[in-house]
Amino acid sequence: MILITGGAGYIGGHCAIHFLERGKEIVIFDNLENGHIETINALKNIGNLHFVKGDLRDIDDIKSVFKQYDIDAVIHFAGYIQVEESVKNPSKYYKNNILGTLNLLDSMIENNVKNIVFSSTCAVYGEPEYTPLDEKHKKNPLNPYGRTKLMIENILDDYEIAYGLKSVKLRYFNVAGADSKTRTGEWHDPETHLIPNILKSVFEKDNIFKIFGTDYDTFDGTCIRDYVNVEDMAKAHMKAYLYLKEHQKSDVFNIGTEQGNSVKEVFDTAKSVTGKDIKVKLEPRRDGDAAKLFADASKAKKILDWHSEKTLEESIKTAYLWEKSRH
Ligand SMILES: NC(=O)c1ccc[n+]([C@@H]2O[C@H](COP(=O)([O-])OP(=O)(O)OC[C@H]3O[C@@H](n4cnc5c(N)ncnc54)[C@H](O)[C@@H]3O)[C@@H](O)[C@H]2O)c1
Repeated sequence: MILITGGAGYIGGHCAIHFLERGKEIVIFDNLENGHIETINALKNIGNLHFVKGDLRDIDDIKSVFKQYDIDAVIHFAGYIQVEESVKNPSKYYKNNILGTLNLLDSMIENNVKNIVFSSTCAVYGEPEYTPLDEKHKKNPLNPYGRTKLMIENILDDYEIAYGLKSVKLRYFNVAGADSKTRTGEWHDPETHLIPNILKSVFEKDNIFKIFGTDYDTFDGTCIRDYVNVEDMAKAHMKAYLYLKEHQKSDVFNIGTEQGNSVKEVFDTAKSVTGKDIKVKLEPRRDGDAAKLFADASKAKKILDWHSEKTLEESIKTAYLWEKSRH
């Protein structure tokens, strides 16, 4: 059985669907602080799903999962994810992301579970010295959120040396879109991600979408990011899990489309996909936004046989259908 921490959240929920549809038995562990019981309910009919409500910061909660179920691998999504909040309240981030992960890893070792796929992020790189970013790029995260992720990557390597734990770290770029059957989708509160925020302006008339910075050194002056579809992301986790099972080898991979899209391009695509005239306000730059961030994902292609398949239009379309179903 596979344990998915944070499986009631956005990416974990889509990953759970992918695993269930391929006949895997899974147990989701989530405290539902930022995840949703509706996601668990939507997943129940798909396959062999178990759900445990618990908090990684409480070692007894996570230990009991290993006692109750015969776990053979872990996909670890659970954690806090907001960059700005991590700057204002680093204690909250270090306690949840680091201590929570340590409790998980110690429970794994205690129960002789030695395979884990970990949700890392392109935020571990910091200000890019070159693009596209490959895995060898210098790691200099600019905020506590990114630092927690880099620390966990290092902890995983230390646990391999000491206890033989094998890990695949996936450094995600910007995850986008929703389940193509609209069973789940992106549901963060507050929402800090671009596409759901553009779509919010379609449904909430007082919500005017803001573009921060139009004078960056990019082809249209707005920031460029790499928007990778969430169902493609779920496939990457399956490939990483199978890689671990087969090779018993640790590694790290960028997961992105290798194509940057500017904020303005995403906005224009959203207008054409929805057919709506979405209101926009141009604002000055925000602190800490790099002009361009996009992946060199050739290593994932070569070693995991994974590549991004879905287009930005498909991501925006599924995200739109999901937002529509929620409103
Ligand atoms: N969304 C992105 O674009 C993106 C990009 C890079 C990396 N990531 C990483 O991917 C992972 C998932 O992101 P997401 O967007 O799905 O976030 P999310 O907030 O939707 O999901 C995280 C889930 O973890 C749960 N959780 C948090 N702390 C917990 C704890 N102590 N015990 C039990 N459950 C806990 C939450 O309730 C939530 O369901 C995170 O680790 C995030 O850092 C996300």
